[in-house]
Amino acid sequence: MAVVFDEKKALFTLYTKNSMYQMKKDDLGVLLHTYYGRKTENTDYSYLIYCKDRGFAANPYDAEKNRTYSTEILPQEYSCFGTGDYRTSALRIRGAGGCRVLDLRYENCEILEGKYTIPGMPAVYAQEGDSAKTLVVTLKDKAEDIFVHLYYGVMENLDMITRAVRIENRTAQPVYLEKAASMCLDQIYGSYDWMTFYGKHEMERQLSRTPVHHGLQSVGSVRGASSHHYNPFVILADHRTGETQGECYGFSLLYSGNFLAEAELDQANQTRVVMGIHPDNFDFELKAGDDFWTPEAAMVYSCGGFEKMSQIYHYAYRNNLCRGKYKKARRPVLMNNWEGTYFDFTGDKLVEMAKEAAALGVELFVMDDGWFGKRDDDFSGLGDWYVNEKKLGCTLGKLSERIHGLGLKFGIWFEPECVSEDSDLYREHPDWAFQIPGRKPVRGRYQLVLDFSRQDVRDHVFAQMCEVLDHAEIDYLKWDFNRNITDIFSAALPAHRQGEICHRYVLGLYDFLEKLINRYPNILLEGCSGGGGRFDAGMLYYSPQIWCSDDTDAIERLKIQYGTSFAYPISAVGSHVSASPNHQTGRKTPIATRATVAMAGTFGYELDPMKLSEEEKTEIREQIRVYKGYYDLIQDGKYYRITDPYRDEAFTVWEFAAEDGSEALVSAVSVKTYPNAAPVYVKLRGLLEDKFYVMNGERYLGAALMYGGFRLPAFRGEYQSWNFHFVLEK
Ligand code: DGJ
Repeated sequence: MAVVFDEKKALFTLYTKNSMYQMKKDDLGVLLHTYYGRKTENTDYSYLIYCKDRGFAANPYDAEKNRTYSTEILPQEYSCFGTGDYRTSALRIRGAGGCRVLDLRYENCEILEGKYTIPGMPAVYAQEGDSAKTLVVTLKDKAEDIFVHLYYGVMENLDMITRAVRIENRTAQPVYLEKAASMCLDQIYGSYDWMTFYGKHEMERQLSRTPVHHGLQSVGSVRGASSHHYNPFVILADHRTGETQGECYGFSLLYSGNFLAEAELDQANQTRVVMGIHPDNFDFELKAGDDFWTPEAAMVYSCGGFEKMSQIYHYAYRNNLCRGKYKKARRPVLMNNWEGTYFDFTGDKLVEMAKEAAALGVELFVMDDGWFGKRDDDFSGLGDWYVNEKKLGCTLGKLSERIHGLGLKFGIWFEPECVSEDSDLYREHPDWAFQIPGRKPVRGRYQLVLDFSRQDVRDHVFAQMCEVLDHAEIDYLKWDFNRNITDIFSAALPAHRQGEICHRYVLGLYDFLEKLINRYPNILLEGCSGGGGRFDAGMLYYSPQIWCSDDTDAIERLKIQYGTSFAYPISAVGSHVSASPNHQTGRKTPIATRATVAMAGTFGYELDPMKLSEEEKTEIREQIRVYKGYYDLIQDGKYYRITDPYRDEAFTVWEFAAEDGSEALVSAVSVKTYPNAAPVYVKLRGLLEDKFYVMNGERYLGAALMYGGFRLPAFRGEYQSWNFHFVLEK
């Protein structure tokens, strides 16, 4: 039932649990988008389309004398360039003769059981018991043998529709893709807000919400990574939509490289959203007979506000995107030495720290940057992935043994994509780094980026990594990437194919990661790019958790984690307690508050335990005990944003509620303090209305907590925190 093709009406309708998506082939064979929204039965929404003769609209030749027919006004399922639709196009191809015009018409369709996959790229997958179908609608250019296959993954029970496009060149000549978006959505009417997540290093995923205005507005990245600066996740929301009510659409790109997300309001007040690989510096050769897959975009419609939308993404990404042992296995509480020592450590120092960590209840000790090559600062060593035994005072195998001997798991840091000029690798293979002959390369953190579009470069780094991983017991690997790409030029590609590099780089990265997780299925992989510079759904296919931000300040993290939560599950959010005063901001916060905030993620510590007072150690022991008790509720429960940190200045509050309503954990942090302050109340969610809950010996009716609310404690001083655990009365 998830895909219905009404041949007579030439109507395709996709149904998920609560949403419906529809398109129709019109009399000229143009595929029109008719509807995406709340599910209704047996409706042909083409009645919403209104055509009139608009000045300066172009009419296709086969529309004959019908001046009301124009692709400029008609809602397009996948817009193309040059045949009358002047809005932003999803597809632009340069033919052998230099022509960029395309006129896509319906060719055929196929409905397949299960969910399609994309060779070499991340995709949401169906699990046993999921009801998943694939619809493939094939369009063809009217003149040339260019075929465009639109893929729809209809994940009925997940309430999600995924899209990807495969472009096939069946002509006898090469053609060049200049833009190949993963999706295009034309909403016939509606007054929308455009919500994006902007930021910078140490302040990722800040929420921006502005009305969609006439013309084009966009966010994207041309940095070679999805970036700290804009996230490949955007929302189109009705003006009135809020956290718990109203309509919104989420668009998430499963891609870790250059991307563009555009919204355009046209002359007829229709809104178009296009999302995919960024067309800047993208020029991909498609030889005769070749095909090209775009990355996947995952769309969610919610009529229950942002909360519902986020919960759909959380569930789907946790269960149907993340893979491997740690998708389900309990993630260990970790201690990472980075903010504790930076580069200044020895093997003995680490063992000393690990001993203390073990006594606190930590389960995994991570040795961060600085254990390899010549690496006592960030000027040298990247690319030389051999153990600096002099610094460690022993082999890595021995160090790992010593850490394991303390009852801890052991993890290490890598930055496989980068190279220092002061490294053996660079001295041997300078052409493996992105740089342009005759120019000096642009540095970032004093390092260069290796050309991961090249198999030989990847193979070399992979072999080096295996040499390390095969000779020590390693349980965890942090994959970092500390700069963005410049000097995009590959010594391995001819001049006319240099526009392929950025995409090939991402494909190379995915190929590497796939090989790595297959060879080391027991290693827990944590993604990282200077914190959250590549926090995207593409990376989640390989690493079930990603270091959320290099900003470990608990108060800053409130907004960073709030923004992150719109698309990404708590189980993906790397979050640690660090020292106070905080190293990024100098702010002092109680250790209890740092822990409360870090618990809304994959919990851990990032400090030197030798510097902790006895009181702090006692507190940490208790924090870890408490966290372990809440683990399932936090990781598998439903996440609720109770306050909006941009509006509610006094407190930031969030909640985890068990799926079955049996318990809820409400966490609150006081952010701002006032004299003679007014009481602050919050309404909880996800409880059973007619059941009683007990919290600190008090009894509350579920409905009362949800609709009447709950008063937060009065406080003096900023940055205090509370955890309220409501348990269903037996
Ligand atoms: C950036 C990461 O986000 C940090 O946690 C740390 O691993 C450093 N890189 C090491 O260079």
